Amino acid sequence: MPPPIVATIAEVRAAVAEARRAGKKVGLVPTMGALHAGHASLVRTARMKTDFAIVTIFVNPTQFGPNEDYNRYPRTLEADRDLVGAVGADLIFAPLPAEIYPDGHRTFVEVTELGDHLCGASRPGHFRGVATVVLKLFNIVQPDVAFFGQKDAQQAAIIQQMTRDLDVPIRVEIVPTVREPDGLAMSSRNRYLDPTQRRHATVLFRALEKVKSQVAAGERDVAKLEAIISQEVASTPGARLDYARIVDGVTLQPINTLQRPALAALAVFFGTTRLIDNVTLSP
Ligand code: PAF
Repeated sequence: MPPPIVATIAEVRAAVAEARRAGKKVGLVPTMGALHAGHASLVRTARMKTDFAIVTIFVNPTQFGPNEDYNRYPRTLEADRDLVGAVGADLIFAPLPAEIYPDGHRTFVEVTELGDHLCGASRPGHFRGVATVVLKLFNIVQPDVAFFGQKDAQQAAIIQQMTRDLDVPIRVEIVPTVREPDGLAMSSRNRYLDPTQRRHATVLFRALEKVKSQVAAGERDVAKLEAIISQEVASTPGARLDYARIVDGVTLQPINTLQRPALAALAVFFGTTRLIDNVTLSP
């Protein structure tokens, strides 16, 4: 059953109040729409672990840089509604930008250090926009549990840190990445790829798998492991490396040697489309 769509804060709060009166536990899945099987997995998990799953669909302008794809970001509300309806979403909150950022909005949330590397280095201001909108959605909906994907590992770490630091009484759950059969991580941006780019986009998964097998074989030198990723991308037609980094799994700060769990992450451009992926490395 396609869930109802509401666009105002007052409406979503009224629906949450009603769910709470019925004794229901509330789950939140924040998204920017253009939904795919990865989002379906978030909603399914939310529905399994809570009784009332709210999906927010909002292309958040404050997390896009001036030359990024805010205007061309796919808006597919009807298809999104069918997709989340099929996996049990109870309500969609799809506000207009003015509902979230009315004239005179002046407050932003900044999580220091965790955003300095990886995507934060290539997308200045991105995580400030993400943290701000996520905290606003948390305050608007006030769910018991919120669900985010592991594909955006840095975003997940920043949201968890913000939730702890600001004493937000919401449990944050991270759900594993969903992949296409050939390994490509599901992403709303995959739909920008032409067929040739799509074929070559498996390089992200392939490079991470190579790193994992080198770690399993005993390699601990981070520079050598990062070089494996760079070489794999360099030898792929149409692929341009944005970054390939192995960082501490908790602080996301650079490391030289693998001693503790770490995050291997990369971002690769195909034309103007930027794809990301990551895996955890356990030495
Ligand atoms: O991961 C996303 O889709 C977005 O960054 C989020 C968390 C919905 C905030 O706009």
